[in-house]
Amino acid sequence: MNKLIVANWKMNNDFSDIPEFVKYVKKNAKGEDNLVVCVPSVMIKDFADASKKLMSTGAENCHFAEKGAYTGEISAKMVKSAGASYVILGHSERRHIFNENDEMINKKIISALKEGLKVIFCVGETLDEKSKYKSVIKTQILGGLDGVADLDNVIIAYEPVWAIGTGKVATTADIVKVHGYIKNLVSENYGKNLPVLYGGSVKPSNSKEILALENVDGVLIGGASLKAEDYIAIAKSRN
Ligand code: 13P
Repeated sequence: MNKLIVANWKMNNDFSDIPEFVKYVKKNAKGEDNLVVCVPSVMIKDFADASKKLMSTGAENCHFAEKGAYTGEISAKMVKSAGASYVILGHSERRHIFNENDEMINKKIISALKEGLKVIFCVGETLDEKSKYKSVIKTQILGGLDGVADLDNVIIAYEPVWAIGTGKVATTADIVKVHGYIKNLVSENYGKNLPVLYGGSVKPSNSKEILALENVDGVLIGGASLKAEDYIAIAKSRN
């Protein structure tokens, strides 16, 4: 199966960028599958309607409650009914800017899985934590997956915080080492081999090397996913 190529538009591309992005993919990505584009919640429906079977649509976050008095929040059910099949949870920007902790992320994961969404669960250490990445990632994974009965729809994304939007990419040796650690940890605790994506300054010039690595099941791309040309160039570098 082709490795997963996930775009995270964050709060960048707008409604007006959707038609051109989809048109480019339609024209230039024949035969490419396992393409997922995560967009701001208000744009899910438009993106899903425009991209149809070409790409899957994802959300960048959702709330853990099914419904209620949570002004400004969006439930997993709303995300699903708008046309998303994936949701990113636990992104470092959610953890650090919006103070999401492992317990909240765990509740979100449970809620999203209950709705039948595929969860892209992000973990990763900050620069200060680099020497103790194992304990940081272990706490994030065991906390986030606490009580999750069915892991079939869980995909882990390893995004070292110091590599996000900085142009600094983890070395290939580091990626292999940390992905191996994550795979072993999950296998020991849950008896499963979960897919692990790498994220952090992935771009067309480095994606081929990263995607060829052992234990890398795909990539999660921020800045280089905003232009369809770069996004598709990364997808094509899988082969
Ligand atoms: P960049 O690719 O811009 O470093 O962002 C990575 C990321 O945070 C994807 O979720």
